[in-house]
Amino acid sequence: MQIYKVGGAVRDRLLGKPVTDIDWVVVGATTEEMLAKGFRPVGADFPVFLHPKSGEEYALARTERKNGRGYGGFIFHASPDVTLEEDLIRRDLTINAMAEDDQQNLTDPYHGQRDLEARLLRHVSPAFAEDPLRVLRVARFAARYAELGFTVAPETLELMRQLSESGELEALTAERSWKEIARALMEDQPQVFIEVLRECGALKVLMPEVDALFGVPQPAAHHPEIDTGVHTLSVLEQAALHKQPLSVRWACLLHDLGKGLTPEEEWPRHIAHEHKGLKLIKAVNERFKAPKDCQELALLVGEYHTHGHRALELKPSTLLELLQSFDVYRRPQRFEEFIAACEMDARGRKGLEQRSYPQADYLRGAATAARSIAVQPLLEKGFKGPELGEAIKRERLRALKAYKEAASA
Ligand code: CTP
Repeated sequence: MQIYKVGGAVRDRLLGKPVTDIDWVVVGATTEEMLAKGFRPVGADFPVFLHPKSGEEYALARTERKNGRGYGGFIFHASPDVTLEEDLIRRDLTINAMAEDDQQNLTDPYHGQRDLEARLLRHVSPAFAEDPLRVLRVARFAARYAELGFTVAPETLELMRQLSESGELEALTAERSWKEIARALMEDQPQVFIEVLRECGALKVLMPEVDALFGVPQPAAHHPEIDTGVHTLSVLEQAALHKQPLSVRWACLLHDLGKGLTPEEEWPRHIAHEHKGLKLIKAVNERFKAPKDCQELALLVGEYHTHGHRALELKPSTLLELLQSFDVYRRPQRFEEFIAACEMDARGRKGLEQRSYPQADYLRGAATAARSIAVQPLLEKGFKGPELGEAIKRERLRALKAYKEAASA
């Protein structure tokens, strides 16, 4: 049997990037031979094994043919007579379809190295279309390698467009899609992921609520970039520049969905978009089964981001309601993430990226003031049950009034 390093490990070594995962392909072997060498099988039908020591994945060279819709509809053919070239041709991109032996001799039948140099994400063969997840993968690679100047080859973009129009994307499971989305959002230029999805028509299928924001104007006085879709991409870009966690990036992407529902005659104003957007945010959250922290933050940021921006003008009672809604007493981190998303929203405006955001510290100070109320003295005064709750609230309100007065003095 011959063993080759394949996929991302070869690509990233040639790009001079750190290699984390190594995938191997084994040519000329049978399942029985692999088991005899101590490899552990991964799944019942998949000819993939884990190395007994390193735990890395070793796959038997295989050909795949699609015989149905979705991810389940594959027939695998793995046997010792499948060649390395046959295995590589079914892969997604030419830059992912190179193999290397233990002497670092490259097997590159589909010119991955040439495309690496040309900075092109190009599909290997029409077999690309057999896994619609690849539309998301290409968009994710475009985001990851944008800083190196990579773009999607026009013929690949065309194929992605056909796949998006064919209805195949709907067959993807929430879990597979979310994994790609989450990884893409954590890249340095996540806005490129959304741009590429939009360009090939996949955004309209996967997240029509985000797609609908393009072409929707906002008032130029607050939003010099005007277009809500452009604004959303800038907010995402800022979130990555400021190294925000996934939950904040997800909330940034979804915060303005309500603006896509404004009747044209009301443009460029978007009255109550925060509230109107909630059902859309919920739908996107559920479509991809986003993790709970992402779902929650997206909804809270959607509902309250304008409160964040207007923090310095809010009445103490409104400030208190905001803090209560976030349960800042038990969930301080979530409120920090809300503040971060608001700040990214403010910075994601053309020409205003560097403007300071005093609301952030003001909100932190308000949370500290409300949190400083001690319960013990109230208990000692004999407050119990709902009355205790009311007393705490009163004290917090008093603290917030004092905080606001001190801050405006
Ligand atoms: N592959 C593919 N189609 C997919 C998934 C994977 O063709 N839908 C192939 C590609 O050749 C890829 C290899 O399997 O390079 C390994 O896949 P994976 O580990 O998911 O990705 P990497 O390319 O290693 O990229 P990353 O750095 O993002 O993990």
